[in-house]
Amino acid sequence: MNITEPKYPPKIIVTGDLIKSGLYICIPENINKVKIDDKTKDVALFTAENVYNTSSAVPELRIYEVGARDGLQNESKFVPTDIKIELIHKLAAAGIKNIESASFVSPKWVEQMSDGTEVMKNLKRTSGVNYPVLIPNLKGYETAKKCNIEEIAIFPAGSEGFSQKNLNCSVEEGLKRFKLVADQAVKDGIRVRGYVSCVLGCPYDGPISPKTIARITEELFSMGCYEVSLGDTIGVGTAGSVRKLMKEIVAVTTPDKLALHFHDTYGQGLSNLLAGLEFGIKTVDSSISGLGGCPFARGASGNLATEDLVYFLYGLGVNTNVDLVKLVEAGRYISNFLAKPPASKVNLALGDRFKNHEDIIKMAACTV
Ligand SMILES: CC(C)(COP(=O)(O)OP(=O)(O)OC[C@H]1O[C@@H](n2cnc3c(N)ncnc32)[C@H](O)[C@@H]1OP(=O)(O)O)[C@@H](O)C(=O)NCCC(=O)NCCS
Repeated sequence: MNITEPKYPPKIIVTGDLIKSGLYICIPENINKVKIDDKTKDVALFTAENVYNTSSAVPELRIYEVGARDGLQNESKFVPTDIKIELIHKLAAAGIKNIESASFVSPKWVEQMSDGTEVMKNLKRTSGVNYPVLIPNLKGYETAKKCNIEEIAIFPAGSEGFSQKNLNCSVEEGLKRFKLVADQAVKDGIRVRGYVSCVLGCPYDGPISPKTIARITEELFSMGCYEVSLGDTIGVGTAGSVRKLMKEIVAVTTPDKLALHFHDTYGQGLSNLLAGLEFGIKTVDSSISGLGGCPFARGASGNLATEDLVYFLYGLGVNTNVDLVKLVEAGRYISNFLAKPPASKVNLALGDRFKNHEDIIKMAACTV
């Protein structure tokens, strides 16, 4: 078997026997006739390697940018509306196609997001770009609806402790409230995305059972969500815990309907993502300049930085259609405003060395 460059995301095939044995394998289409003898476990590990050397299509990955919402909600000072809007414009100019732009939560809870209406009404929308907003309840939904929105995100917690802190109610009560929102949105023809928070651990309850997360994920799909984003809100996950979670989740849905949302608190964001890509994940959430966190999740730090994600993906041969030079500029714009260095290592490392996107891509993939 020839080994050529890795391609992500691989097509995933999970066989019944292997589900039972806890082994998942990734087999590209053109070798899916490989016989898997349940007794020869090494075959499964061996075929996982083959994922990297047979797919001929240039794979794509959908990036869902959360910096303008998840990022700025966690800043200690209020970021003025015109700065938020300019950041969103810069992200769109860099080629980001999904930009979560505001939230319509209670201003008593998150004052930093209290200008959702102004942001959404004054934004110059680029055709082909999706500008979803975060919605906690019907009150927020009704306000957002007046702003010409096309997509909302609802966000039940995966743990009781965090649900109480973030939504002031139990997980079950939260799901009931979000169902009311989703029902209305579906009726109105507005797309609904679901988040589950604290999927790999809660600051209050500790480790969370993957089965609990799978059940909530299923409920979100039954409400009409087109996609569910699994959020490691406090960034405690590892490639190992992501694998355990994914095994449970792909038993209730297909990986192309899932997104992964990693905070990089323990520096595990990219390796966690790699574990998710092996399951065929097609969407990743990230935040410009690594901004982010949740004011109600003790210890939550910034998200996986979009600059780091894009560099990583180009290195894997995944075409994101994002211009890294412009993306780095967007990251510096908001970091300068906040008077702190970008939390993205790629942004810092590139410095002013590269003016040309193509040169960065060549370096990421080591293309001579
Ligand atoms: C869900 C949530 C609204 C529940 O809070 P609560 O205090 O139990 O909500 P209540 O329904 O009792 O409302 C309290 C007040 O907030 C107002 N309010 C509630 N939802 C609102 C919304 N979506 N938009 C604006 N105001 C809202 C109510 O009108 C009420 O105002 P009043 O005191 O002047 O009458 C609140 O916990 C919340 O906004 N959480 C989101 C947290 C967040 O954004 N975290 C980061 C994302 S992960």
